[in-house]
Amino acid sequence: MRSNFPENFLWGAATASYQIEGAYREDGRGESIWDRFSHTPGKTFQGDTGDVACDHYHRFEEDIGIMKKIGLKTYRFSISWSRLFPDGSGEPNPKGMEFYKKLVSKLNENGIKPAVTLYHWDLPQKLQDNGGWANRDTVCHFVEYAKYVFENLGSQVPIWITHNEPFVAAIVGNWIGRHAPGITDFQTALRVAHHLLLSHGLAVKAYRESGHKGEIGITLNMNPVYPASENEMDKAAAKRFNEYLNKWYADPVLKGAYPADLLEWFADRGLAPEILDGDMSAINQPIDFLGINNYYSSFIRHDEHNWPVYASEISTGRDRTKMDWEINPEGLHDLLVYLDKEYGGIKIIITENGAAFNDIVNREGKVEDDNRLDYLYTYLEQVHRAIDSGVNVKGYYAWSLMDNFEWGHGYSKRFGLVYVDFKTQKRILKKSAYWYSEVIRNNGF
Ligand code: FCB
Repeated sequence: MRSNFPENFLWGAATASYQIEGAYREDGRGESIWDRFSHTPGKTFQGDTGDVACDHYHRFEEDIGIMKKIGLKTYRFSISWSRLFPDGSGEPNPKGMEFYKKLVSKLNENGIKPAVTLYHWDLPQKLQDNGGWANRDTVCHFVEYAKYVFENLGSQVPIWITHNEPFVAAIVGNWIGRHAPGITDFQTALRVAHHLLLSHGLAVKAYRESGHKGEIGITLNMNPVYPASENEMDKAAAKRFNEYLNKWYADPVLKGAYPADLLEWFADRGLAPEILDGDMSAINQPIDFLGINNYYSSFIRHDEHNWPVYASEISTGRDRTKMDWEINPEGLHDLLVYLDKEYGGIKIIITENGAAFNDIVNREGKVEDDNRLDYLYTYLEQVHRAIDSGVNVKGYYAWSLMDNFEWGHGYSKRFGLVYVDFKTQKRILKKSAYWYSEVIRNNGF
């Protein structure tokens, strides 16, 4: 059996600034909400922080060498806003931009297309001190930051992503409180979500006005949602959960409106965000692709105890990764087919997919991560299946290029194709990296 992917398929791997860079106080970088959060006792696994992480700030050349060895066509990374604007707004810090200029030109020299995420959760702390994303002013500061990045890197970067997973930034950061800034207020979370979406639309507009000819989109974390049973209550809960997780973000961006039923549901409970005139059309800018991150699927039952959406995920007994996420490759196929239908054949890039497992360096110094290899293999088969049935998928980024700081889990969850020994910063290509390299070389398997 051969599975060939479309010509020029974007084979990549992804990372994010706070998870890999380290150098947290170097060259004028300002504090971000993740510095503050991870330095707060009890917030992360064993008090782990991104102070050093993979030390990528100093080792990016070696890391690009590794990407080249794997044969990546493209590399997705994010920019640390507080490196460029230590206070979030005002005067830029040119030293910060120097790093990204070097990174981007080194990637281009090596024939690896840079795909840049503007916001992967590391808001400058100074802006959080003024209310963070719940404060509408942050939207303007983000657009200024985006413009500065477009001016400096616009001619070198062909792929842009405004936001990474606004659901997680809003809900996990401001309602569940497991991520920075660690707030636990639902109304704040929906307000944050609205401002993230608005800032996305305005940044897309600024990008078009900058005259650069690359592609720009947004990355949403999306799961296919299935009702846990045929029970009407479960079905209704699944519909609500799909609107809560997926459509709350995709609909404004692609259709210019929040899903009406859930908007009403929130309004009935006094939770709906304030939407000013013109906001929805500002969010609804034409984008070039939809980025999706998918790791697992959501099987949903009605749950009276789970305010305010009254829907909970159940386990289905499938095998789990070290994140405790159930492995369901078919789910990615179903999701792609669903999105294709729901959003009129939109071009899709899978901007993250991957798995954490217990990796062990064996006596020969190798990491034989067959479980990760199987995970990637079976998910990619489903991507291929979706492409075969006509879904317009243009690329796939494995999460992650290398083991890194997994947010609240610190360094306890390894997602990399490349193993990182955090004591010595030694990198070891895992078996999955060698396998992925073959997949890229053959444009399939
Ligand atoms: C996603 C994040 C990414 C990484 C993976 C495992 O939600 O975008 O930074 O943490 O999960």
